[in-house]
Amino acid sequence: MSKNNRQPFVAGNWKMNGSLALVADFNEKLNTVNTRAQVVICAPSVLLHAFKSTAFSIGAQNVSHLDNGAHTGELSVSMLKEAGCEFAIVGHSERREDQGESNSLVAQKAAKCIAGNLTPIICVGESLEVREAGQVEAFVGQQLDALIDVLSIDELKQSVIAYEPIWAIGTGKTASPEQAQEVHEFIRGYFAKVDAELAQGLRIVYGGSVKPENAETLFAQNDVDGGLIGGASLKAEDFISICHAAN
Ligand code: PGA
Repeated sequence: MSKNNRQPFVAGNWKMNGSLALVADFNEKLNTVNTRAQVVICAPSVLLHAFKSTAFSIGAQNVSHLDNGAHTGELSVSMLKEAGCEFAIVGHSERREDQGESNSLVAQKAAKCIAGNLTPIICVGESLEVREAGQVEAFVGQQLDALIDVLSIDELKQSVIAYEPIWAIGTGKTASPEQAQEVHEFIRGYFAKVDAELAQGLRIVYGGSVKPENAETLFAQNDVDGGLIGGASLKAEDFISICHAAN
């Protein structure tokens, strides 16, 4: 399967930003987006109810690995489904850092999503320290191993992988198209060792300071199937032009 057979994927990650007013703005503007890409907005959970999405899907930024019960502050897959989510980001580096989420917890969350028919957008990526030590493949490989240990081939086929180098997130320092392609190719190759068909069909998107100005060249790389967009997903016009860049 060539790149052209994988539907491009562009997701916005609002993080702890946004408001009902911003949702209203997106409802109006994003419903006219004209792109081949599958488009998703991952907003704070308390805003999800206000989206009226016909041209895009909505997603959560995190989900519990548990079903229900005494877990104050957590949200389950079934709750997010009821709220209209079709996707959930799992293992974002900010949660790995701030909440100490481990590789195995991230894999459990992804498994819980798939069991409940929610598509996980699974984030991996290295810090600057790891990159400078020449350890990118070893580090990302470990993150992938945890997924391969827990998820079946069929479950992996139902996932989206986001490669997000931590040093490029919110810093304005985008990975060059070559740097992104190098790691995306490594990730696809890693899954190819598990199953060739899985690797060919798997959507691997790039995240880290994607903007309207750099999206097209990043998305044009052979193994880059779209993006996970933070800062630039907070302005409808910018996000729409990034969605168009995925054509
Ligand atoms: P950024 O964030 O686009 O603001 O760098 C990307 C992300 O963290 O998903």
